[in-house]
Amino acid sequence: MRLWGSRMEKELNEEVAAFSTSIGEDFLLYPYDIWGSIAHCLGLGKVGLLTEGEAGAIVAGLRNVYHLFEEGKIDPSPFEDVHTLVEVTLRNAIGEVAGKLHTARSRNDQIVLDERLFLREKMSEMMVMILQLIRVLVEKARQYPHLVMPGYTHLQPAQPVLFAHHLLAYGFMLRRDVERLESTMKRVNTFPLGAGALAGTSLPIDRHYVAELLAFPEVQENSIDIVSDRDFILEFLGDLSLLALHLSRLGEELVLWSTPHFGFIDIDDAFTTGSSIMPQKKNPDVAELIRGKTGEVVASFLSLAMTLKALPLSYNRDLQQDKPPLLRAIREMEMILRITPLFLTHVYPKEEKMREALREGFLTATDFCEYLVEKGIPFRRAHALVGEIVRKLASEGRSLRELRREDFGEYGEFFTPELLERLDEEQSVTKKISWGSTSRKEVEREGNHLQTFLTEKENMITLWQETWRKSFRELLG
Ligand code: ARG
Repeated sequence: MRLWGSRMEKELNEEVAAFSTSIGEDFLLYPYDIWGSIAHCLGLGKVGLLTEGEAGAIVAGLRNVYHLFEEGKIDPSPFEDVHTLVEVTLRNAIGEVAGKLHTARSRNDQIVLDERLFLREKMSEMMVMILQLIRVLVEKARQYPHLVMPGYTHLQPAQPVLFAHHLLAYGFMLRRDVERLESTMKRVNTFPLGAGALAGTSLPIDRHYVAELLAFPEVQENSIDIVSDRDFILEFLGDLSLLALHLSRLGEELVLWSTPHFGFIDIDDAFTTGSSIMPQKKNPDVAELIRGKTGEVVASFLSLAMTLKALPLSYNRDLQQDKPPLLRAIREMEMILRITPLFLTHVYPKEEKMREALREGFLTATDFCEYLVEKGIPFRRAHALVGEIVRKLASEGRSLRELRREDFGEYGEFFTPELLERLDEEQSVTKKISWGSTSRKEVEREGNHLQTFLTEKENMITLWQETWRKSFRELLG
């Protein structure tokens, strides 16, 4: 049941065994452990460390072991970790020759191989989910090309913006999340096996050959670093933390917008919950949980960061604690990424309410200034004049629509029909011309831009996955 019993005079204490096992977390890595083991075995065969017959027997045995696992016939409970479980199962299946598989390999490089194989696949699946969410945002934006709403700074009404523009802001945030994961992938998708316990090996292995069998584009250097490094997981958790933080902002806005005070959206009844005491309630729990689950994800980052702090080189058993936060963050993030696009397609803007809200808060005061600038007034002067006018209007309970010539004092000449048109909230949006602004044309361009990004990245990920899955199929037979 253990790979190291002979060194000890006594059996391992049962409490210690229970305390130190990682099988609860690493059992799910068995497909990767077996896949990597087959490649390792072929590598040993290639350089003559195994005869053709031995390599053939071990590969066939590992393929059988994989099927036993798949059929649910393996009881993981008494084992120290997945590596032990796979090796012992193999020995039971093919006998003593199984003992040659671990030649020139340590569990220290084996575990990071398993994790890298697992994580590159998981990451790619998550990237697809983020792309799907961006797609839903782009589609939603396209459904409402004309809808204008108040844009906010400090949560105070600021300037009119297109609802579509606001949605696409999240699209661009998420695009960065995809790009970050793509960058992290470069460091996840590197090949560790062959580091041994920490120092490499005196046996003539061919690391590059095995890397190729497993479709790794890069072979990691420095065996000490290889078994010590968990950056690739921490970096991934950092990327997920930022992603979760982004979605918490979306969740928060959906919560706010669903309150009667804003009243900007309606949520499909099937996506809301009620109260056990207050019969009138319709609560946005999904949006709250999207926001709330962020804590779990960020906590996972912090958890692993603490594990790594001040850890001496090279492998330490502490590193085993990388798996609980990794799996927890993935579990939470996958739940968030599944529900968010579904939820968004069941959220509808209340156009009338948004339009009503445009009338409050002097949203076109900046357009007023820009009009005056076009007429040759220095911006600072224009700002002061409009500020005075707004102060007067606010105290008299009037809006910019109710401007009168006498409000302008000595600037009466600027009170023109053209100005009144510029103060219209829909006009404000139409008149924007700068790159990336909230005009119809720019927002359409932004949507198209994101659309191109989606296609490009989806193709890239499909290629990755095809390459990896081909290796898996070929090696698992
Ligand atoms: N369960 C271990 C981990 O997750 C695998 C590597 C164990 N190595 C060792 N020397 N005990 O890190």
